[in-house]
Amino acid sequence: MIREFTYQALPMRVLFGPGTSAMAGAELDALGLRRGLVVCSPGHRALGEKVAAALGERSAGVLAEARMHVPAEVAAHASAQAARSGADSTVAVGGGSAIGLAKAIALDLGLPIVAIPTTYAGSEMTPVWGLTGNSEKRTGRDLRVLPRSVIYDPELTLAMPRELSVTSAVNAFAHAAEALYAPDLTPLIAIQAEEGARAIAAALPWIATPGADVAARSEAQYGAWLCGTCLGATTMSLHHKLCHVLGGLGLPHAPTHTVLLPYVLAFNAPSAPEAMAALGRALGGPADPAAELWRRTGGLGAPRSLAELGLDRAAIATAADLAVRSAYPNPRPVTREDAERLLTAAWSGADPTTCADAPPQGDVR
Ligand SMILES: NC(=O)c1ccc[n+]([C@@H]2O[C@H](COP(=O)([O-])OP(=O)(O)OC[C@H]3O[C@@H](n4cnc5c(N)ncnc54)[C@H](O)[C@@H]3O)[C@@H](O)[C@H]2O)c1
Repeated sequence: MIREFTYQALPMRVLFGPGTSAMAGAELDALGLRRGLVVCSPGHRALGEKVAAALGERSAGVLAEARMHVPAEVAAHASAQAARSGADSTVAVGGGSAIGLAKAIALDLGLPIVAIPTTYAGSEMTPVWGLTGNSEKRTGRDLRVLPRSVIYDPELTLAMPRELSVTSAVNAFAHAAEALYAPDLTPLIAIQAEEGARAIAAALPWIATPGADVAARSEAQYGAWLCGTCLGATTMSLHHKLCHVLGGLGLPHAPTHTVLLPYVLAFNAPSAPEAMAALGRALGGPADPAAELWRRTGGLGAPRSLAELGLDRAAIATAADLAVRSAYPNPRPVTREDAERLLTAAWSGADPTTCADAPPQGDVR
């Protein structure tokens, strides 16, 4: 086999372990930074205050204003606050929304980020930013938004509610799944994707119950780290496109990933046999990753339909239009009718294998 690829490593530090969130100040020191503005969601203010207290004189205050999908007006206000605070950096503590707001500030003001993720969304490992306005989400890549240091402390995930734990873990699994059939997949990322998916699948039943299973939470964070790395290193396909469109229409991020992924995997399976084999191994050897994932997440009480997440039936047509408006890679070509059929099945919570008919000839990657 002759291998041909381009691999770009991303410049960042990663710390792992229970109690490491207390080391944010030392990370600022190691990076030559003086004062960090702590960024978090309103519901995480107490955690933000705790991180700020541990930073001591290195804290430039707490900005508890993060909201899902980073509304443009929230980002503008946050940048103004950050500029006023005199901070030379941000310390983002929370899920993808808190890290997303720190990224918006970095994009605007260039403030480097120390990230302390509390979900499995993976934003901390990517140079991807996102901003939402007028029901549309814009994203882009910029190395200024890549956190300089990431601190994974499993103790911060112990109190995660059941639905967030399960859906956020599937969000991570989705990064690995789409990396495995990405056009720019490289050998190192393929290894990370399969191992990340395996770790997430292994942890899933144990993290569904809030409580003190630090080892399972650590395994899930390990999986989230690897899967997030895959997200940052490859170009995502149909699944992320659909989630992106539905996010712009106001649907919640991780639950949307959880509902959609089995349908997209079923649709793409005939065109991506190697990726499906890797995902099957990661799930412990089932023949059909789409059906297996659907069965497991349903068994853990995860949402099963886009209707349940609040999507109006009439919005499917709009979402299908948006899903094919611009080009993106996918192992199987996607027509507007395909997008509408897939979204309709996911809207009603139908068996995902209904999306698995054979692809057009000659399109197997
Ligand atoms: N740019 C990227 O590379 C990238 C990657 C993944 C996700 N994202 C973005 O991240 C956002 C979604 O992130 P998310 O799914 O982590 O949700 P989130 O950050 O919005 O968190 C959801 C809710 O859970 C709470 N929460 C977070 N961690 C918790 C914990 N450990 N215990 C209890 N409650 C907790 C939060 O305060 C919030 O209320 C979306 O806007 C998405 O687009 C971006």
